[in-house]
Amino acid sequence: MNIKFPNDFLFGIGSSSYQIEGAHDKDGKGESIWDRYTETHKELIVDGSDGKDACKSYEFYEDDVQALKDLQVQFYRFSISWCRICPDGDSAKLNQSGIAYYNNLINLLIDSGIEPMVTIYHWDLPQKLQDLGGWTNPKMADFFEDYARVIFTLYGDRVKWWFTINEPHLHSVFSYGQCLRDKLPVHAPDVRFLGISEYLAGHVMLLSHARAYRLYQKEFYSKQRGKVGIVLDAFNFIPASNKIEDINAAKRTRTFEVEWLLHPIFSSTGDYPPLMKKIINEKSLAEGRTRSRLPELTADEIELIKGSSDFLGINHYTTYLAADEDVGDKPSFYNDAGFNATPNPNSFSPSPDWIKMEPEGFLDLLNWIKNTYNNPPVFITENGCGDVQEYDDKDKIYYHKTYLQVILKAINEDGCKIIGYSAWSLLDSFEWSSGYTEKFGFYRIDFTDPKRKRTPKRSASYYRNVIKTRSIDFKFPD
Ligand code: NOJ
Repeated sequence: MNIKFPNDFLFGIGSSSYQIEGAHDKDGKGESIWDRYTETHKELIVDGSDGKDACKSYEFYEDDVQALKDLQVQFYRFSISWCRICPDGDSAKLNQSGIAYYNNLINLLIDSGIEPMVTIYHWDLPQKLQDLGGWTNPKMADFFEDYARVIFTLYGDRVKWWFTINEPHLHSVFSYGQCLRDKLPVHAPDVRFLGISEYLAGHVMLLSHARAYRLYQKEFYSKQRGKVGIVLDAFNFIPASNKIEDINAAKRTRTFEVEWLLHPIFSSTGDYPPLMKKIINEKSLAEGRTRSRLPELTADEIELIKGSSDFLGINHYTTYLAADEDVGDKPSFYNDAGFNATPNPNSFSPSPDWIKMEPEGFLDLLNWIKNTYNNPPVFITENGCGDVQEYDDKDKIYYHKTYLQVILKAINEDGCKIIGYSAWSLLDSFEWSSGYTEKFGFYRIDFTDPKRKRTPKRSASYYRNVIKTRSIDFKFPD
């Protein structure tokens, strides 16, 4: 096997605004749903923490860029905080200090030879828009398109890679429904109109994404020549046993967890997956409703959404075992899907517990995407795990190496079109409902230090070496 990554394969690393920036109320920034949620629901964050200060990247972004330079990454994937730019979410009122912050970051990246790649929305919705119903409000598609226009106009001369919405499936289910059937605390804003709000939020995010994509094609592409795509969370799900029920459950799980928002964009027919439509429609009618709880896409909407991504961004962390299971007796996403997905108890977990090392599962998923969706260009926008060591994060290095190895196989042997890899993540940061208890960073942050010194872990040398040699050396660092 060719052990080198192709010359045009891109290596980088990522972060997101609420997780690292801090400065939650500085210089005119508006309140986000995570500001509100962490303030009012401390008990739902494992360590009671918040992102008020986080890694203080708003203040110390130059240190972030220094770390990126040391890593020698080709790009940096970061997100823009909507309410730093439009404090109320409304694009009629812009915040100049917020605009300047991202200008400075982008310019410094470019001066440092690092390509800026921007996630337009990574979960920190302006609270004002949530007050209007957030992603369950169909009007959000207008707000998002207008916000995207502002962002393309401001930064599109220098930013050529755009990720519209990060993990719309997970955001819909965890924020507007339940987190793994209530096994974990939910995410902001915690709206639980179960069986209704999850689907509505996903529906509106999908349309919002497509609107931003079409807007770019129509008004910006001819001048800016960038690429725009969506980022989907894509775990793999394999049958928990060889019973036919579990084999079907694994397929169904993949349909609900991955294909729900993938199929409408990447299939040749468009629309939601037929299996999902059928299940939810039948259950809805049996519940005495006159229509499905899964909103319907009109013929025009199907066309708007179909093909609305220049590449498929996927965040992949692990593979779960899926078993057939009745989940409660009330409508919900998990009740409709009827599965129980669990980490394989026999596989190694570097940390946190929800991540098991299953590189073969990733290879299987990449091939499934290739075979089912006509080999689209895939950008691995997140992959990684945490560590429990302070600096010597050997298990994390091992995880990354084995995952990169299957990516190499997928490209060089199986012919999957994989164009880039963004490790997660640059810094230890605010890990949503897990607070600061899960550490995904290649750089350790001393959260007691007012300057939040960034110190490279062992994984930083590992990754630098991969990028430099464009290959994986299993002996480095020993
Ligand atoms: C996916 C999310 O996009 C990111 O914000 C999070 O930190 C990682 N998963 C790890 O949980």
